[in-house]
Amino acid sequence: MTVRAATVSSFAKINLDLRVLNKRPDGYHELRTIFQTVSLADIIALSFTPGPANAYTLDSAIDIPDNLITRAANLVLAATQATGALHIRLEKHIPMGGGLGGGSSNAAAILLALPVLTGHPIPLPQLLELASQLGSDVPFFLLGGTAVGLGRGAELYPAPEPPSHPALLVTPGLHVSTPDAYRALNRELTDVPPSRIINSFQALAWQTGERERGGSWEAVNDFEAVVFPQHPQLEAIKGKLHRSGPNLALMSGSGSTLFAIYAEAAQRDRAAATVGSELGSERIHKVTLISRTEYRSTWWQQLREHILDQQWPPRSRYSK
Ligand code: C5P
Repeated sequence: MTVRAATVSSFAKINLDLRVLNKRPDGYHELRTIFQTVSLADIIALSFTPGPANAYTLDSAIDIPDNLITRAANLVLAATQATGALHIRLEKHIPMGGGLGGGSSNAAAILLALPVLTGHPIPLPQLLELASQLGSDVPFFLLGGTAVGLGRGAELYPAPEPPSHPALLVTPGLHVSTPDAYRALNRELTDVPPSRIINSFQALAWQTGERERGGSWEAVNDFEAVVFPQHPQLEAIKGKLHRSGPNLALMSGSGSTLFAIYAEAAQRDRAAATVGSELGSERIHKVTLISRTEYRSTWWQQLREHILDQQWPPRSRYSK
């Protein structure tokens, strides 16, 4: 049997807005958020050789606790009953535990690529179900671009897409525990979310695709209120980003990454030079926003030898 190999980019995300409404009886929090893919990516090389027995190796320079790649691969193989030898190599570029969804993105990349390589398709509703078993942020990476996230963040709808702005990510090298950040918010346990926050979120979501270059965005990340007092250096970095003239500067997820979105690449590059000289250039990542169209075309290009046509999710040419 011939080896079926593909190398794919597993993109990071930022949250253009993030509101935590209330604690739910299931222990999760009810969210309203706008996810956005950005060009910073891990690289995942997969090779699958069909055969009667399963074999698996994961090759990575770093040790990944509670490895979502392995869990995603097991879920796909169990759901499809595909058998064969699977080798995965992970080249990590997205900082871990930084609010950029790196591990979630890696898991979704396996959910998208593996059914194509094995020739055992999984329809989108079932892929979304498997993704939400792996984590609240995983389903978003099955879709990419700009999306509104509801519920625990796993229920997604397409949002109007902003233009492909240049952006800067600052990763301070500080790990913020997501469960601790949720606990610190101390939200009320209820199944009736507060309509005041929902109304303010709606007003912002309707503007996402309408902003002209240069207009400023009145976005909110509720986690800033609990994470900044614990780590004042993050608020200081956000202040520096604000002074560099972006349309928007905000923390992503539960932190610690801060990002800024600019109208012009020259502005972004000047900010990168200033912040980089203070914090170290390894903490700075120049990126662009990745639209849903770009996300899909990148995937089709990466899997071109193995797919039938340009459908979403990608369709395998090996399916019977
Ligand atoms: O879903 P995921 O495993 O990524 O979530 C990690 C933790 O973050 C959860 O165990 C929970 O403590 C918290 N969380 C939450 N509400 C959400 C998403 C995550 O309370 N909507």
